Amino acid sequence: MNIQIAPSILSADFACLGQEARRMELAGADLLHIDVMDGHFVPNITIGAPVVYCLRKVTKLPFDVHLMISEPDRYVDAFVDAGANMVTVHAECPSADEALKQLRHRGVKCALSVKPGTPVDAVYPYLDKLDMVLVMTVEPGFGGQSFMTDMLPKIRTLRQWADQFGLPLDIQVDGGVDVNTAPLAIAAGANILVAGTAVFYSDDPKATIRKLRSGRA
Ligand code: DX5
Ligand code: ZN
Repeated sequence: MNIQIAPSILSADFACLGQEARRMELAGADLLHIDVMDGHFVPNITIGAPVVYCLRKVTKLPFDVHLMISEPDRYVDAFVDAGANMVTVHAECPSADEALKQLRHRGVKCALSVKPGTPVDAVYPYLDKLDMVLVMTVEPGFGGQSFMTDMLPKIRTLRQWADQFGLPLDIQVDGGVDVNTAPLAIAAGANILVAGTAVFYSDDPKATIRKLRSGRA
């Protein structure tokens, strides 16, 4: 399987986001993962669409926008206008369905995410309408947490469903992904790995990205 690496800009130096995005592009990243938090869905506040708009001018990397916000339907258009190529909304949000409809209408890739406490069954009714499912392997809100191995069965279930129904579903894993945990996620069936701390704090991000992609510890 083709494995893609999406460095999470949450671990970047926010005083020079443009350079940080370029640094990841040069290091061989496949996507740039942008964590949007509203201080309500999660206990942290990060960045909004204006920042995405400015970043769009400095890198060609596709933008993978992870909306950890309570009312994604209110902001989908703003993020697509700002340059998002794919947008993930959380299954726990009452307006997730509406946000997915808007994303499909706008013609960008759409994804649904489950927090650790949410069963993977929550995405089942949407499977054939999704480009990607994001399995959170930490409680969303902060970088630098430890990978929850008890989330691996969710990834296996999703890969089984995708195979069973012949769906070209991407399975993304986010939280605590490093060179030790990446092989577990890949073996379970994930094909897009988000990594914040592991890549941004690496002495050699290029080598780390290559290693993460290899699936070998
Ligand atoms: C957590 C975010 C993640 C986070 C990952 O809520 O969704 O994308 O930045 O950071 P690491 O790789 O450090 O766990
Ligand atoms: Zn994320």
